[in-house]
Amino acid sequence: MNAPESVVAEVPVITVDGPGGSGKGTITTRLANYLGWHFLDSGALYRLTALAVMKKHVPVDDEEALGETAGNLDICFDTSGDAVRAVLEGKDVTDDLRREDTGVMASRIAAIPAVRTALKERQRRFRQAPGLVADGRDMGTVIFPDARLKIFLTASAEVRAERRYKQLKEKGESVNLTRLFREIKARDKRDESRSVAPLRPAEDAVIIDSTGLSIEEVFNKVVSLV
Ligand code: DC
Repeated sequence: MNAPESVVAEVPVITVDGPGGSGKGTITTRLANYLGWHFLDSGALYRLTALAVMKKHVPVDDEEALGETAGNLDICFDTSGDAVRAVLEGKDVTDDLRREDTGVMASRIAAIPAVRTALKERQRRFRQAPGLVADGRDMGTVIFPDARLKIFLTASAEVRAERRYKQLKEKGESVNLTRLFREIKARDKRDESRSVAPLRPAEDAVIIDSTGLSIEEVFNKVVSLV
């Protein structure tokens, strides 16, 4: 049986929103481990929807079919090993999730209201005792507006492109820094200008610019706020 809504609402939430490459993922995972709380990578849900859309060849202009795909996602997160594995329809898709084309498709379908509505409740179900640290674009503005602490983590597009470049290089992928920079700018624009849940800090969010900071420095700042 699910806990009543009033009990669920009392479970504390910390939200970490911001553009891709700002270091959100690393900070959120570390913070969740530090506090012993649950962790929601909401971008992974959009990426899993994007993979399902590509696999099923759902037309990207068919809002109803996209919403249905998001609502009927057959997914789970396998936490039994060292790293969390994402499973879509019984298949481990963890590596596919981080591909550039998956990110681009995720950003496109994230602008579709029916997709956002379908994923809303699924995201809220991650709110479980003793607490949740949620990473995304609209965690503080739409999904958990009553969060105890809202952080908006940002960094210049140049620095984010360089971070992404290093990550992909380490994975052995052939990448072009100028192209990555252009893609990051395009994705920022799409995420910031969409009509539903655009990427922006909540009014009560604390903004941290990680441009000149190490992960350690950002983490210490966040912990001092907690
Ligand atoms: O954080 P990420 O790069 O894994 O997210 C992939 C895409 O999903 C991103 O371009 C925008 C979208 N997204 C969103 O719209 N809302 C969220 N809460 C998380 C991600």
